[in-house]
Amino acid sequence: MLKALRLAWHRWTVRRKMDRVFGRGKDPYRYAASPYETARLDAMEKAVAGRRYKNALEVGAAEGHFTRRMAAFSVAVTALELSPVALARAREATTGLGVSFHLGDVRVWDGAGAPFDLVVLGEVLYYLDKPLVQEEFEEALERMAAWAGGRLLLAHGFADPAERARREHYRARFEARGFRLVSETVVSARDGDITPSCLVSLLERA
Ligand SMILES: C[S@@+](CC[C@H](N)C(=O)[O-])C[C@H]1O[C@@H](n2cnc3c(N)ncnc32)[C@H](O)[C@@H]1O
Repeated sequence: MLKALRLAWHRWTVRRKMDRVFGRGKDPYRYAASPYETARLDAMEKAVAGRRYKNALEVGAAEGHFTRRMAAFSVAVTALELSPVALARAREATTGLGVSFHLGDVRVWDGAGAPFDLVVLGEVLYYLDKPLVQEEFEEALERMAAWAGGRLLLAHGFADPAERARREHYRARFEARGFRLVSETVVSARDGDITPSCLVSLLERA
């Protein structure tokens, strides 16, 4: 009971925050203007290039910037998103591309369509990796690992060595669940006054 309440509370706070962020207007993370975001999405696409995926999943699709790209190299794409405001934009951005959208929390979503031959987790795990919901985070990792029947792409930004180590730990959690590392790269690009970096790791079921 306590666990269910805790999860419902956490879901509500994240969803409210994301609806506010996306409610301020289109492209709040400046994907269109940011050289860093373009470099990050390019690096993610490059990591998975070279094959056509039959059944791909993106968790935390936001406004669909990477979802659009996935539709170009996949036969079918499923996209899961917690914020209805973001999801409506993602739908608009992928009109006619045959993406199947689901509104919901990855921690309780049923994984409809699994196994996926590509699962993409881009800038999403740290929304789940919070002190009060660690048990739920571990369970979500287990569920996502079970959905991934082929490749798994992780892409999470970092600002300093400690944060980079936490991103590497995400990768290690999947390695401990039967995945092997295929490739890994760090992408950095200047964005105004800062130069953010992102660890992009491609794993495959061993
Ligand atoms: C920063 S965006 C990342 C967008 C895209 N994946 C990328 O790499 O650019 C993270 C998205 O994850 C969504 N999200 C956060 N927690 C979630 C959860 N528990 N279940 C599903 N989506 C979630 C947020 O609403 C947000 O739109």
